[in-house]
Amino acid sequence: MTDRTAPIGGRSVYSRGELNERDLHPDPVTQLQNWVDAAIEANLPEPLAAALATADASGTPSVRMILIRGIDADGLRFYTNHESRKGRDLAANPVAALTLWWPGLERQVRCSGPVRQLDAQESAAYFGSRPRDSQLGARASRPGQPTPSRDALEAALAAEAAEHPGDAPIPLPDFWGGYLLAPDRWEFWQGRPNRLHDRFEYLPHASSWEIRRLQP
Ligand SMILES: Cc1cc2nc3c(=O)[nH]c(=O)nc-3n(C[C@H](O)[C@H](O)[C@H](O)COP(=O)(O)O)c2cc1C
Repeated sequence: MTDRTAPIGGRSVYSRGELNERDLHPDPVTQLQNWVDAAIEANLPEPLAAALATADASGTPSVRMILIRGIDADGLRFYTNHESRKGRDLAANPVAALTLWWPGLERQVRCSGPVRQLDAQESAAYFGSRPRDSQLGARASRPGQPTPSRDALEAALAAEAAEHPGDAPIPLPDFWGGYLLAPDRWEFWQGRPNRLHDRFEYLPHASSWEIRRLQP
């Protein structure tokens, strides 16, 4: 990040503009939730959007945005197509790194760790909670595969809609579902003037976490 005199979007009243160890919750998941809550309160756009990095079996990295759909003591949940690039990466190499950034608060969170697929029951519950059009769209698309035209995509969606008319429940396709990232490393970053940003790392220590300040 380049130095600048004015933060993007202006400094929010929710940003204290500094981060000290006493401000941090001992549990990083709770700390993340606190910062997500602050981003929501500050009306920042897409407070749960995150960049998710994966790598294939040869180590070639790939990154894309996702939406975090669950935060709890087990980790972070997100949903996608298992046959997408990220799905194939995670099948071959079940680890990931994730970054959230809230420009209006000058805050970044990074975490990484092992990833596992959620069971079909949990994925089906989430799938069923999505708007009907989103469910049909998920069934109609094969992310990353070439398509001859926009019309072909629309036709695939129309075919799904015809197959699932009315209010009949739409089944979870076996190529779609959720993942749980269980971070074993976290970092919380608060932008500060003069590039002397505040950075704190959480590393597992016995049954809790060791927190240490890092140089920016
Ligand atoms: C803000 C934002 C949120 C997104 N959320 C998701 C998501 O939760 N799940 C998903 O599969 N794709 C999501 N996408 C689309 C992905 O970025 C990506 O295009 C798609 O999943 C295919 O990625 P892949 O080929 O690397 O697997 C989102 C895109 C944006 C810009």
